Amino acid sequence: MIDIENGTKSFVGKNGDFKAVDNVTLSINDKEIFGIIGESGAGKSTLMRFINALETPDSGQVIVDGIDVKKLDKKGLRKHQKDIGMIFQQFNLLNNKTVEENIKLPLELHNYKKPLTVEDVIKFVGLDDKRDNYPAELSGGQKQRVGIARALVTRPKILLCDEPTSALDENTTDEIVDVLRKAQNEFHMTVVIVTHELNVIKQLCHRAAVLESGRLVDTIEVSNPVIDRSDKSYHERVLEVLQDA
Ligand SMILES: Nc1ncnc2c1ncn2[C@@H]1O[C@H](COP(=O)(O)OP(=O)(O)OP(=O)(O)O)[C@@H](O)[C@H]1O
Ligand SMILES: [Mg+2]
Repeated sequence: MIDIENGTKSFVGKNGDFKAVDNVTLSINDKEIFGIIGESGAGKSTLMRFINALETPDSGQVIVDGIDVKKLDKKGLRKHQKDIGMIFQQFNLLNNKTVEENIKLPLELHNYKKPLTVEDVIKFVGLDDKRDNYPAELSGGQKQRVGIARALVTRPKILLCDEPTSALDENTTDEIVDVLRKAQNEFHMTVVIVTHELNVIKQLCHRAAVLESGRLVDTIEVSNPVIDRSDKSYHERVLEVLQDA
């Protein structure tokens, strides 16, 4: 369970201090897929980064599995952060390492109790034939699959996704949404996803928080269509979209 209570964070802007996140209180259930939506600058990334303490609120609390993140010492914080995976809009891969080496990286940096094998996650994201390729040789969707595999290999309790599909075209977005949904089904982590793409929320999330100028204006239960396009070809998906229209 993730509890953010009255989380507030100010930054210095052009016209003095402003609240990037303004007194936000919300709870995210275990194994939930939770969306954070809002316009650019609404405070989505800042709010999400409270969870893995990449940002610390000026006031308010962030409680993860009963632990007040602000009160953790250095060692406690490292343990907390080890349980949280993250994927990014720009993938954040190391260009001088192969797919396999990128995925292996977290396991070389820290000791994990029950990691998955690189073999398993490479197969899971469907990149078996690309393991020796470098990021420059991959499409955007393939790069994001590497990012997802790199996060999954540590078997995170929580997966934070900051605009994971915003650099991708529509069909690739659908593929990545499918991979994320399957990952949650298989590994049962809590997923928090920041996006401005409402379709991604619609297809993936159980609930979504709406932010406006740092303030939480609503938390919405999403009624999702159960879509699994994984067995459909590109051609079939094109027909589905164009002939529906
Ligand atoms: N480290 C920082 N220093 C100063 N201002 C910051 C910092 N981080 C974020 N901000 C500002 O806080 C506000 C919220 O930023 P945040 O990145 O959380 O928004 P966002 O909703 O994720 O936007 P986007 O959709 O563009 O990624 C923005 O006005 C941003 O410029
Ligand atoms: Mg952002």
